[in-house]
Amino acid sequence: MTNFAKAKAHTNIALIKYWGKRDEQLFLPMNSSLSLTLDAFYTETEVLLDDNLESDQFILNNDIQSLTETKKITDFLNLFRKQAGITTPAKVTSQNFVPTAAGLASSASAFAALGCAMNQVTNLNMDKSTLSTYVRRGSGSATRSLFGGFVEWQMGTCSEDSLATPVDDANWDIGMITVAVNTQKKTVSSRKGMKLTVETSNFYPAWLESAATDLVAIKTAIKQQDFEQVGLITESNGMKMHGTMLGATPPFSYWEPRTLEVLTKVRQLRGQGWQCYFTMDAGPNVKILCRYSDSQKLQKFLQDAFPDNPVIISKVGSGVELLAK
Ligand code: ADP
Ligand code: DP6
Ligand code: CO
Repeated sequence: MTNFAKAKAHTNIALIKYWGKRDEQLFLPMNSSLSLTLDAFYTETEVLLDDNLESDQFILNNDIQSLTETKKITDFLNLFRKQAGITTPAKVTSQNFVPTAAGLASSASAFAALGCAMNQVTNLNMDKSTLSTYVRRGSGSATRSLFGGFVEWQMGTCSEDSLATPVDDANWDIGMITVAVNTQKKTVSSRKGMKLTVETSNFYPAWLESAATDLVAIKTAIKQQDFEQVGLITESNGMKMHGTMLGATPPFSYWEPRTLEVLTKVRQLRGQGWQCYFTMDAGPNVKILCRYSDSQKLQKFLQDAFPDNPVIISKVGSGVELLAK
């Protein structure tokens, strides 16, 4: 038997962050989160189920991946194969149009695309929210990449209801600018960073409290299309997440000196009347929420200030799509 599918998923950047698991096996998060899907960064992944293969193969950006990386893929594929009642090996070929493991959410677009392709080749035909409960077990943030616009990942009570739902199409002049500070692979993966934080940070209980409050507030602000509030809550929530890492043992941070310089620049631009708000994920790169109609002007200011750093504009991205089958 052979069966083929190819899918494309965009990355997403959390405005209310996911930072910590209450169940590492099932990837159940400690808090609900909310993100914006980005058009500029994405992953394309092909899956070929083939009975002639001896075992799963995983090729990323034209490189055959190590046994450790392939094992992660096998574990993920097994969730689908088990449900479909098959054991057929797969060849997975993926291309990232986003730096891999640099804090630009490659794991989100990666597992959303792979999950979508697997949903097709196994004929499971799950709707996107149900599919998100599978995709979650590849990478938590991938749940949100199944949908476009603003998306919530509800923490849920169990594996079946910890899922993603679309919140708003963000079709009201929303954009995001990325200032790439360092696109090399990070030294502490998101998974390890959040685990250390949950286990050791004194600040973690305070983080959980304010993440819950921030989520309610940002959903209200989105409903009202109150861009300033969305921006202020985003900025505050991201900073609080990074604060938890400073309270860990040993303390750590994903920031680099240039990260702080970009934050200063964003604050300065805001002081001059521009609506722009920063957030960072588990990496040194800065994402700036802005009006899409302002993005070219803001990009120029940022590029002039940081001539050596790529400054990339993105409009709002759409949900995962099947490219071929
Ligand atoms: P990021 O900030 O890029 O999401 P993470 O530490 O969360 O960083 O995840 C990076 C990991 O995600 C990689 O080390 C790899 O295991 C996995 N990954 C990235 N891209 C792909 C892909 N296209 N297909 C499968 N797995 C991928
Ligand atoms: C800071 O989803 O990459 O980007 O579930 O262990 O794969 P795993 O982690 P991942 O963590 C993302 C952390 C974050 C915040 C967010 O995207 O919500
Ligand atoms: Co990730």
